[in-house]
Amino acid sequence: MKKLLVTRVIAEPVLEQARALFDTTVRTAPGGLTEEEAAEALTRYDAILPTLGDAFTAAAFARAGADLRCGMLGNFGVGYNHIDASAARDAGVSVSNTPDVLTDATADIGMLLVLATCRRASEGERMLRAGEWGGFGPKSLLGLQVTGKVLGIVGMGRIGQAVAHRGHYGFGMPVIYYNRSRKEAPMPARQVETLHELMGEADIVVVTTPGGAETTKLIDAAAIAAMRPTGVLVNISRGEVVDETALIEALEAGTIAGAGLDVYEKEPRVPERLRALSNCTLLPHLGSATVETRQAMAQMALDNIIAWSEGRDPPQRVN
Ligand code: GLV
Repeated sequence: MKKLLVTRVIAEPVLEQARALFDTTVRTAPGGLTEEEAAEALTRYDAILPTLGDAFTAAAFARAGADLRCGMLGNFGVGYNHIDASAARDAGVSVSNTPDVLTDATADIGMLLVLATCRRASEGERMLRAGEWGGFGPKSLLGLQVTGKVLGIVGMGRIGQAVAHRGHYGFGMPVIYYNRSRKEAPMPARQVETLHELMGEADIVVVTTPGGAETTKLIDAAAIAAMRPTGVLVNISRGEVVDETALIEALEAGTIAGAGLDVYEKEPRVPERLRALSNCTLLPHLGSATVETRQAMAQMALDNIIAWSEGRDPPQRVN
């Protein structure tokens, strides 16, 4: 029986199937594998089902070196920027991810952040819970109306399109998007040439690019400065895509109106300065966190490992 490591507790029916097919170890410790632990796991298991926070870096593969035993990383999650996929390929390790099954859940969280931030929902709820609500006021907690506002999508992939769909059909929003390659959109939407054009034209910007080296700090101080003073920035991709310090400075100075974040540069650490701001909505990386979606992600990750163990090409292989 091949040895499988599941780095976090996942849906029980999927774990049951894993236990029937593999000599399965489920790691129950909270938090991700450090680089050292990842390297050790690569030498001890034939396959690994890792997730966000597990440091399968180039250094981890180098450290495993000639003792490498693992041939497959079936990642739980569409984003796999915590795995150096080319170092894995060079070491002969296949990597797969879980696209599609989490698109709707993640786009829903995108809209939740748009609505909550524009309508100051978290701020209002915090005020009420603190016993500070003085009653209905014609001028209290006025926010930005979402319906009809210009929605700007950065990265028109599966999740970007799903957010655009919700914005256009659900909230009558004209949609513009920035994508590094030419891309047809399956709903009325206009592709703009430059990121700064998008940042300046949109009332609400939603970032849905993949993470990784190519998009790190794509939304930098200059891009944030191109936004309108009434603009709202939502990030549901990866924390590193937005320059967190530049964003905090813009929010503190009021050069943009607000931000809705589901992801952070150094999760689970969220800077105190960000937590102190009232004009942002901060969620603990909830994008794909529904019972249905997490079950489907677990199943897809395991199905890829099963395919690999049977000598088939993993259907969601990325390297
Ligand atoms: C979650 O962020 C994922 O990449 O699946």
